Amino acid sequence: MSTAVSAAGDADEGETMPDVLRVWRDGEVAVLEIDNPPVNATSQAVRRALLDAVQRAQSEPETLSILICGAGRTFTAGGDITEFGKPPREPHLPDLINRIEESGKPVVVAWHGTALGGGCEIGLGAHKRIIAKDGFVGLPEVKLGLLPGAGGTQRLPRLVGPVAALDLIATGRMVGAEEALRLGLVDAIARKDLRAEAIELARGLIGQMQPRLSLRSTPAAEPEAWQAMVAKVNREARGRIAPQRAIELVSQSLTLPFSLGQPNERRAFFELMNSEQSRGLRHLFLAEREAGKRPELASVTPRDLHQIGIIGAGTMGSGIAVAFLDAGYKVMLVEADDAALQAGLERVNGLYLRAIRSGRIDENTRLNRLSNLAPTTEMSRLAGCDLVIEAIFEDMGAKIELMKKLANLVPASMLVATNTSYLDLEPMADALPAPERFLGLHFFSPAHVMKLLEIVRARRTSLQALSTALAIGRKLKKIAVISGVCEGFIGNRILAKFRAQCEFMLEEGALPREIDAAMEAFGLAMGPFAVQDLAGLDIAWARRKRLAATRDPADRDVPLVDRLCEQGRFGQKAGKGWYLYENGHRVPDPAVEAMVRAHAAATGRPQRSFSAQEIQNRVVAAMVNEGAKILGEGIAARPADIDLVLVNGYGFPNWRGGPMHYADALGLKQVLAVAQNTEARDGRGFEVAPLLAELVSSQRNFSTLNGG
Ligand code: 3HC
Repeated sequence: MSTAVSAAGDADEGETMPDVLRVWRDGEVAVLEIDNPPVNATSQAVRRALLDAVQRAQSEPETLSILICGAGRTFTAGGDITEFGKPPREPHLPDLINRIEESGKPVVVAWHGTALGGGCEIGLGAHKRIIAKDGFVGLPEVKLGLLPGAGGTQRLPRLVGPVAALDLIATGRMVGAEEALRLGLVDAIARKDLRAEAIELARGLIGQMQPRLSLRSTPAAEPEAWQAMVAKVNREARGRIAPQRAIELVSQSLTLPFSLGQPNERRAFFELMNSEQSRGLRHLFLAEREAGKRPELASVTPRDLHQIGIIGAGTMGSGIAVAFLDAGYKVMLVEADDAALQAGLERVNGLYLRAIRSGRIDENTRLNRLSNLAPTTEMSRLAGCDLVIEAIFEDMGAKIELMKKLANLVPASMLVATNTSYLDLEPMADALPAPERFLGLHFFSPAHVMKLLEIVRARRTSLQALSTALAIGRKLKKIAVISGVCEGFIGNRILAKFRAQCEFMLEEGALPREIDAAMEAFGLAMGPFAVQDLAGLDIAWARRKRLAATRDPADRDVPLVDRLCEQGRFGQKAGKGWYLYENGHRVPDPAVEAMVRAHAAATGRPQRSFSAQEIQNRVVAAMVNEGAKILGEGIAARPADIDLVLVNGYGFPNWRGGPMHYADALGLKQVLAVAQNTEARDGRGFEVAPLLAELVSSQRNFSTLNGG
């Protein structure tokens, strides 16, 4: 039977301590329940209340054992991100956890939902840990450019060994209950009732001396396993500081006592907290959570969708089908004829077989998901769907025809979306009765994997359609960003300026390999020319041909892609493009470099060599300048939305926070100066964005625009 106890220890009904901790007793077990919605972050108020409650429990004769648990959806998501970057306030989490560990009375922690960061560290300070069978635990600080700062890097290796500890700390991955038990991270999994089983565990420890993890030595690692893990962490760090610091700190747990290791960890934590990398990653964390919040949508209820129709079962269509099937929707996949439909189904199945091979799903899951897929060549069957997405080839005429056909087949209330990546939505909307139910859902390939979803709002798109699209994004676990209509929307429009700038530099003395190397050093997984080779140069060629008729002859245009394609150099698939591909290896091709040099000389532009820094500055300025125009035109609502698009869809290094955040960190004055030089040099086609100039003259930066 539970008894409620007050702060002073008197019996009392449902006593609430400073609003964030509920304390009561179940027999001899004091139950301390963190209750700080939405995710029980360990804010200063929580730390204070917990410390007071743990100390009080020491002096209460009725309390012989202590249980720390959480209310609501999760144990705790860890340190309160809204406190980061501000002066730390007492009591500090490491001190609280040390106090828990030193408790003369046993302390048990019950993890449910997600026990992350500081929440995991509280558990490491306790004497026993029990987890709900659907619970997760992890130290995800590295994803915010940080490391555990409350003993995690020193206690975890002592508990699970240095190799597993480094893996968890450097990747930040969460583990489920079974894996946590296998690793020795928890002592038990609650099979039925976490709270009751945790109280029993706490009761069972009464009167026993509890070992302190911090006094244990870290078990020695197999040298080969340790070296392999270190190599993996270094390889995957790619410019990020925090994973590398993790190697250093976990190593120290092998050689230093906890009393020396912990202050080192704390110092590293604050150094990282003040790093640009952490600021960038924290910015993205908050941007992700803000992206779908629009004041005009606050009172709009999204529609409930069950059955999704997808027209076109090519690479995009089949990937989109899998994304919806994975999220539990019923999908109707439509193709023009049996052969195309069969090929599409094989593509869908192929994606599932690959998921089985990589261990992500099992055969049963594949069968379950496929049982929700209805293939057909009959467009009329779409009439029963709640939303239809067209994913046919990028041809405006064909898309308009398709919309006209749909108009006759489906009810005017059905939502209709296009997956176009750059075409104007208005002519398609014109072809539909009730164009307010029409919008763009721009998925990125492979659509079932890539996190980004651009939701394109056409002129007449209704608020309900928009709000429904955002709800789809959440259900598909995508990062959904709203864009207005323009050629390429947010992402491809900026990408076009980025690529053009790289090609301009080829005309001024830079080589493709130099630009690729500079951008890879900046943090891109692949440089722009290597990416073009991977995607196929014929794609860029086709687009150039499409735009040729309307291109202003006064615009600066670099025809090198045409020359490469005319020679059959279509990229990796042809074994040659900007580079040569020999046995799968990319090598610079002297013939291409000579062609680039000859073209550059023929332009009559002055030739010079470029430093990596200069290349990076020009690319960033081109992206940011276009981003500023996109903001000025109202295509994107916030600079942070642009950051999300570039990071999640185009490989911009997340630890730089996205181009707009990075520009703020660099100083907008410098970015403006590079943009002004570019304008002077490139003339037409590169005008400095008025918003960029305006921000600099009013001594503001992009972050001041993020609130609205
Ligand atoms: N601090 C403050 N607020 C947090 C938070 C945190 N650690 N984690 C989440 N929130 C907020 C979100 O901003 C969001 O706020 P909103 O409703 O105003 O938009 C709300 O909680 C809900 O979050 P999500 O939308 O992300 O909810 P989900 O259910 O999708 O995910 C989660 C929950 C898995 C806990 C996810 O929020 C998450 O990964 N949080 C970050 C966890 C983390 O990185 N913890 C480590 C912190 S650093 C630390 O502990 C330092 C220590 O070592 C000293």
